[in-house]
Amino acid sequence: MALYSEKVMEHFRNPRNVGVIEDADGIGEVGNAKCGDIMRMYLKIENDVILDAKFETFGCGSAIASSSMATELIKGKPVAEAMKLTNKAVAEALDGLPAYKLHCSVLAEEAIQSALNDYYQKHPEKKS
Ligand code: FES
Repeated sequence: MALYSEKVMEHFRNPRNVGVIEDADGIGEVGNAKCGDIMRMYLKIENDVILDAKFETFGCGSAIASSSMATELIKGKPVAEAMKLTNKAVAEALDGLPAYKLHCSVLAEEAIQSALNDYYQKHPEKKS
């Protein structure tokens, strides 16, 4: 059996939403101390909906595939829904990750939450 699913390989080779949003409403950066990988997430939000999401990931292939999938999963979604995105959902959408690579999907979950927290800090009135 191949170590990585075809979806992981595909998102690694052709990652969606790579880049920076200059006027982002929320920016989050997280890292994993063990592997040293870093993920930065940019969100454009309007009327509590995520219009756009972009990322920069300095990390392994699984982290890149996870960022790519995570941004795809939250685009067009209400902020409250994006806040609930779990690493499990990201890994499942990628048709699974090897157990020792699950922390890479955790990075994507944390990066989105960090960007959303940044958004809430800038717009405290939005937090219900
Ligand atoms: Fe660290 Fe993948 S090995 S994020």
